[in-house]
Amino acid sequence: MRIGLITGGGDCAGLNAAIRAVVKHAEGAYGHSVIGFRHGWKGVAEGDVMPLSRQHIRGVLALGGTLLGTARYHPHSVDGGLDAVQATLEAERIEALICIGGDGTLHAASKVAERGINVIGIPKTIDNDVVGTDVSIGFQTAVQIATEAIDRIHTTAESHNRVMIVEVMGRHAGWIAVHSGIAGGAEIVLAPEAPFDLDRIVRFLKHRHRSHASFSIVVVAEGAVPAEGTSMQYETQLGRYGEIVAGAVGERVAAEIAARTGFETRVTVLGHVQRGGTPLPADRILASRFGFAAVEAIQAGKTDVMTALHGEQIVLVPLSEVAGKVKTVPDDLLEVARALA
Ligand code: F6P
Repeated sequence: MRIGLITGGGDCAGLNAAIRAVVKHAEGAYGHSVIGFRHGWKGVAEGDVMPLSRQHIRGVLALGGTLLGTARYHPHSVDGGLDAVQATLEAERIEALICIGGDGTLHAASKVAERGINVIGIPKTIDNDVVGTDVSIGFQTAVQIATEAIDRIHTTAESHNRVMIVEVMGRHAGWIAVHSGIAGGAEIVLAPEAPFDLDRIVRFLKHRHRSHASFSIVVVAEGAVPAEGTSMQYETQLGRYGEIVAGAVGERVAAEIAARTGFETRVTVLGHVQRGGTPLPADRILASRFGFAAVEAIQAGKTDVMTALHGEQIVLVPLSEVAGKVKTVPDDLLEVARALA
């Protein structure tokens, strides 16, 4: 059998581990051929093929990024995109396509599946906002990077008596902000799920600095917004492709806090540092399990499903239940972040 493989959307740590698992298991256990397409759906639409066998995956387990390359390209949003994808898959005699991606890539996968093509999804995104799975590839490494950064910022914050704003990724969901904020002991965590009231934050910081501490750490997800009807007016700043302008909300929150409290304030925007570098063992293991499960799913004749982690188990969930949705941080977790301020 000829199995296609793509990585789409923003990269993250652990993608190569997933590619390796697919190639090793498909080739080793069943003698299938794996055909990679470069740069996600774009490569499928353009027929940009890269054969993948054991020699191509040697030594990649611990490497960040993706050896296939990736791109933000959605065939269903481009004129003739889905036709081009179908034509390439037919020309390459691909019987099943494994798509490693986040919400955008998996949404496209469900559109391609509607055309009768066998598709299996594997969730990856540092934002951890893919529904249907407890965790996506890349999230745990990103949390580790953000937590380490907060730990380092702690000591300099304390030395200088400053309010330190740490902006982390998370467009629609504040998973990285909440996890790294709790793990790093941040005083305040701002997530898109819970629009904030800057007046309350200012009152809290003034009280804290008056009564028992001279510094504070505020973790801000890039998609955080003020609550309607509160004193700070702000709209999320979007770039040319709808991406969030890095640093925009962090800088704005810092400027408002500095102006309203008089405290010295600094901003650190972690940005793409969170996506790069060596995957943690947890991400290598998750990616390996997902890659293995995707091949098993194909072998069992399953299609239009995504591999997912439910507790300790790897399961398959229908792609139709995933596409176009966002997994937000639940209230009880937001509550922990608030309670430990
Ligand atoms: O999709 C994950 C993500 O890391 C978002 O949190 C962030 O807004 C976006 O990617 C940045 O994308 P790009 O690499 O295209 O700037």
